[in-house]
Amino acid sequence: MAIERTLTIFKPDAVAASLTGTLLARLEKAGLKILGLKRLRLSAGQAEGFYAVHRQRPFFTSLVKFMTEGPVVVAVLEGESAIAKLRELIGATDPAKAAAGTIRKDFATSIERNAIHGSDAAETARFEIAYFFTGAELNQG
Ligand code: RTP
Ligand code: MG
Repeated sequence: MAIERTLTIFKPDAVAASLTGTLLARLEKAGLKILGLKRLRLSAGQAEGFYAVHRQRPFFTSLVKFMTEGPVVVAVLEGESAIAKLRELIGATDPAKAAAGTIRKDFATSIERNAIHGSDAAETARFEIAYFFTGAELNQG
């Protein structure tokens, strides 16, 4: 067990549905501290770079289109086992397979429009946090 940092993105569907406050409250209630927070509109290049690992997948073009259709909210979260904890709160990629009480079960509308992203491992968390935040932004005490 260790204190970790992870990255979440509230995807354009969730931000458009005014779920930002609801999602932040769920994360805070689960013991995750919000270390960094910003709302931004991803460029196609930013979305492609963020999801570069999926470049060869059939859904990649559609995913980039979705992620750039409106503003997103990106946040760095810190807490005990934050990476696994966030993934647990989020639930399975496909909301039809997500467990009761998870964010995707409650708010996702399809396997693509699934409300929220969470880093899936320590190395990806480091990459994804640095993708959106400088060290100085995250060390405000
Ligand atoms: P994420 O990276 O966004 O947290 O989601 P994840 O780990 O649960 O799923 P991943 O396999 O990394 O897929 C990234 C995102 O691509 C979209 N997707 N669409 N149409 C499809 O079959 C499909 N599969 C994935 C989703 O938005 C998914 O979250
Ligand atoms: Mg993923």
